[in-house]
Amino acid sequence: MFHDIPDSITTVMADLEGRDARDRADGTPRLERLRQVPRDTGRFLALTIASAPPGPAVEVGTSAGYSALWLALGCRASRRRLTTYEILPAKAALARATFAAAGVEDVVDLVEGDFVLLDEPGAVAFAFVDAEKDVYLAAYERLIGRLQPGALLLADNVLSHAEELADFVARVDGDPRVDAVTVPIGKGVLLARRLP
Ligand SMILES: C[S@@+](CC[C@H](N)C(=O)[O-])C[C@H]1O[C@@H](n2cnc3c(N)ncnc32)[C@H](O)[C@@H]1O
Repeated sequence: MFHDIPDSITTVMADLEGRDARDRADGTPRLERLRQVPRDTGRFLALTIASAPPGPAVEVGTSAGYSALWLALGCRASRRRLTTYEILPAKAALARATFAAAGVEDVVDLVEGDFVLLDEPGAVAFAFVDAEKDVYLAAYERLIGRLQPGALLLADNVLSHAEELADFVARVDGDPRVDAVTVPIGKGVLLARRLP
């Protein structure tokens, strides 16, 4: 997977990493910034989605599609599709361009809108939550009933935004339907596994 990343994906990832770094340095307003996961987290996402049981994957919070590119690599390795949700039309437009340029439309579907309102029923084998912090709990409640046995759910920023996400982390940690652990990679990733 990491040893044969297509040039089209490598090129788009490098462009997005450059833009994200500039966003953080030049005072770009928060809603316009890409705010994407660090590269290490991206690799972690690719490995975990490739290791999840068979079945569809969901991402909440696409931005320009950087994390979805890593997830797309894992989707190809594990023969599944990713549906990724982005609420802001401008970000969804960037993501559409990302997916076309990277050539990942064979495994990635973009839905423009609010995941909490648009989410559809159906089993999920992998989920990644990386939206506004006040969306995490609602997204979890939407997803937990859909997670098939052994499914993995990941959520970013649980260390960088520990205070804002305390209720969410407590909810997942205390939920007898999952085992969960915080992985100190990047900004802190909560990793939960749906029990049989
Ligand atoms: C931190 S950024 C996502 C970064 C992306 N995962 C990456 O690493 O490339 C969060 C994104 O979630 C989007 N968002 C926030 N609330 C949402 C919701 N309810 N449904 C879908 N997207 C949402 C925001 O517009 C923003 O683009």
